[in-house]
Amino acid sequence: MSAFWDRKEKPLIGLLFALPFCWMLTSLLMGRYFPDPGKLLMPLSGSWAGVYIVSVLALTPLAKIKALKVLSRYRRFVGLTAFFYSLLHLVIYLLLFAGLSWSWIRSDLIEKPYIYAGVLAILILFLLAITSTKKMMRRLGRNWKKLHRFIYLAALAVIAHLWWQVKSDISTALWFSVFLLPLLLMRWEQFPLLKHVFKKR
Ligand code: HEM
Repeated sequence: MSAFWDRKEKPLIGLLFALPFCWMLTSLLMGRYFPDPGKLLMPLSGSWAGVYIVSVLALTPLAKIKALKVLSRYRRFVGLTAFFYSLLHLVIYLLLFAGLSWSWIRSDLIEKPYIYAGVLAILILFLLAITSTKKMMRRLGRNWKKLHRFIYLAALAVIAHLWWQVKSDISTALWFSVFLLPLLLMRWEQFPLLKHVFKKR
């Protein structure tokens, strides 16, 4: 079992993680999303980014179960995949949704303040991605763990991004909150401020 996990599964997992991207790209090229590909691809790419953010947060508690310990070695891979899909969401926004029109983007930023919450999440994911190497881990020492706790802030920003844009259909915001909030609550002791408040009581 462990020999399998050590060697053969890596390309398979890479392929599995790339499947949603390949599906979206093929469907786009085949014209399935026309006449407005941006409108359909925004929620799709955003949802896949959200799925991988949920997965990276779920890996920590899951890897504590003895039989699933092996999962912990995929944390970086899943985190980078979350960053990849959020970057794709951003690229789709800029190219297909906004058509690279800066004046349109400027007015959209005023009309849709929830975009700022999305930008905060993606900036955090970027920071975590560039500091995810072994070299950066060594360089940052104890601060590496502290920095990587910002993934919880990114998850909160995603929840805000989703609820803020709700008009009538709350299903996407609700589903992601159902998965993300318990994972955040499980790790409340990671937040020094909250720990301090609860200890005082
Ligand atoms: C990790 C970061 C992000 C995640 C996980 C995420 C996730 C999502 C999801 C799931 C939706 C669909 C919501 C629904 O259909 O109810 C969505 C919509 C949207 N996102 Fe994001 N987002 C992120 C970052 C961003 C960024 C950086 C931008 C802009 C620069 C952005 C702009 C938008 C816009 C404009 C929509 C609405 C699209 C529409 O009206 O159909 N998001 N996002």
